[in-house]
Amino acid sequence: MNPESAADGGRVVALVPAAGRGVRLGQSTPKAFVQVGGTSMLRRAVDGLVESGVVDDVVVMVPDEFVGATAELLPPGVRIVVGGAERIDSVRAGITASPDADIYLVHDAARALTPPALIARIVAELRCGRAAVVPALEVADTIKSVDIMGGVTGTPKRAELRAIQTPQGFDAALLRRAYESAGPGDAATDDAGLVERLGERVRTIPGEPLAFKITTPLDLLLADAVVGARES
Ligand code: C5P
Repeated sequence: MNPESAADGGRVVALVPAAGRGVRLGQSTPKAFVQVGGTSMLRRAVDGLVESGVVDDVVVMVPDEFVGATAELLPPGVRIVVGGAERIDSVRAGITASPDADIYLVHDAARALTPPALIARIVAELRCGRAAVVPALEVADTIKSVDIMGGVTGTPKRAELRAIQTPQGFDAALLRRAYESAGPGDAATDDAGLVERLGERVRTIPGEPLAFKITTPLDLLLADAVVGARES
């Protein structure tokens, strides 16, 4: 999209995993293709990345049978790659497809309303020399760990907990190394987790409530209401 950038501090490639089946949303369409305010989540997520003005290339990972439909949904220039069985497999496919990246952003399609300013803040931190940066929000609920029978095994201090969002930003060599050390189908739920396993420091910056992940029917209602309120 922007061939100039390699000269001014490195090429930023956004990887958008959108190959999930999304059963928790209660719809037959894969989650990323469900509409929010008349536009698919995937299109909204990609538009946010483009509007941030800090992304050079966007690579989306989708289920193989959705490659054709995705090309019709997205602006020209966005690359479309077949995703994998688990989120980690989808991100790995995106990394393999973009070996020229200097910085990777990994951004869930399901965080469709993420403000472009948050995306720009993550890239600004990476450009200042940080190697791994993620958006984080304080948690309102008390979080407990439980065993398989539902018995409580612990109550971590709430003040030390954060809910982590995307985009997660990484020095490209570091993210490649993290994925090389992870097995196929690894159960990691985010990319920063793989980097932490290498012993590397991951920094947080303040996240944005609007970067919430649209996962349940209630989330979808909220997202529709946000878009409706913006447009009225
Ligand atoms: O399932 P979950 O909400 O954690 O998925 C987060 C993101 O990862 C979604 O955007 C989903 O489409 C994507 N994903 C993927 N490939 C999978 C599973 C999930 O790209 N196999």
